[in-house]
Amino acid sequence: MSGIVIVGTQWGDEGKGKATDQLGERVDYVVRYSGGNNAGHTVVVGSETYALHLLPSGILNANCIPVIGNGVVVDLGVLFSEIDGLLARGVQADRILVSSNAHLITAYHQVLDRVTERFLGRRKIGTTGRGVGPAYADKVNRVGIRVQDLFDESILRQKVSASLEQKNALLVKVYNRPAISADQVSDELLQYADRLRPLMADTALVLNDALDQGKVVLFEGAQAHHLDVDFGTYPYVTSSSPIAAGACIGAGVGPTRIDRVIGIAKAYTTRVGEGPFPAELFDESGEKLRQIGGEFGTTTGRPRRCGWFDALLVNQAARINALTDIFLTKLDVLTGWEKIPIVVAYEINGVRHTTMPMTQTDLHHAKPIYEYVEGWSEDISTARQLSDLPAATRAYVTRLEELIGVRISGIGVGPGREQTVMINDLL
Ligand code: IMP
Repeated sequence: MSGIVIVGTQWGDEGKGKATDQLGERVDYVVRYSGGNNAGHTVVVGSETYALHLLPSGILNANCIPVIGNGVVVDLGVLFSEIDGLLARGVQADRILVSSNAHLITAYHQVLDRVTERFLGRRKIGTTGRGVGPAYADKVNRVGIRVQDLFDESILRQKVSASLEQKNALLVKVYNRPAISADQVSDELLQYADRLRPLMADTALVLNDALDQGKVVLFEGAQAHHLDVDFGTYPYVTSSSPIAAGACIGAGVGPTRIDRVIGIAKAYTTRVGEGPFPAELFDESGEKLRQIGGEFGTTTGRPRRCGWFDALLVNQAARINALTDIFLTKLDVLTGWEKIPIVVAYEINGVRHTTMPMTQTDLHHAKPIYEYVEGWSEDISTARQLSDLPAATRAYVTRLEELIGVRISGIGVGPGREQTVMINDLL
């Protein structure tokens, strides 16, 4: 057992950082393979809380090597400010490896992210505004700037100028914004070159060698299945492939290297940004979930939209990611409800669907059909094994397992590292 992927099964913010960090103590490498600093991982270690956006959360475990894979888009300002923030708190964060092929988020990507959102008006995606989408667009368009470009100044300047030529025309003529200076962008990037050089690596080679040696490599998904550019609620998605298969492309390992895929599912559902969300609650239960669950974005501080557990979402994620295990998070947030609703089907134009609808139009018309299970009032935050949980809590977990079709191997019962009920070992 050596290649393990952790992937979000809903719309992100499932608490992947906690699960990754839990495993991090026993793994040799923790790899980010998609997304950028649009992610938000909160990890609580003892009395310290760490909010990470770009760095893999395994960075907090001294024995593991954190890696930023080729599939990540890197904002160098954010990279070094997160590293410096951790160094100041005594975490040896500068041992990270960054792929020479990873693309960079530059100042113009951030500007474009914001102006296009404003331009879209009512049709906006609700992005995090970090420049992630435009950086991936440049990658696919073959006008991106990569980590390795920082070490060939003349090439860097040519590439930045070429990339900006069309963008400046767009900024000035369509969006009525000032043009961006290519020299200024290049100078800004070059100021990071000396610090970046010792971190840059052929990370695909490093990871394949590590797997050959039987080392444990954990691929840490950012965002989640339903934000995937192919399988998510397009166009209300992120611009990369957070699904498990994305680990192969975004880190450079073949599919047969992946032995286990752990899906992280929150015991209820949340979403930030725009897009369809059939189970969304607009009443006081939604507000209560938001307050008790602390459902405010780690990256943007935006209040998250909340709803009950939607089995259709997680069931689809189980199928497409070939999940071997589920890690259920934030179960403690559901303590105190008399009955707990679970979305078991959608009603779309009078027809009952038990799998996600095939088209965007149908998804926009989906209404949740609930099943109700008994709630519990006991404090479960000190539970450490399944038998510590009240019977009603166990029944809720079993019902979710049936609906998802994948075993639940771990349960989060509070924000602390130790507040976990482990059922099956994840390694
Ligand atoms: P972008 O990734 O900034 O382009 O945003 C695209 C969509 O993905 C928006 O709806 C964001 O709110 C959402 N999103 C991006 N990253 C995360 C995340 O880490 N958690 C939850 N939602 C995210």
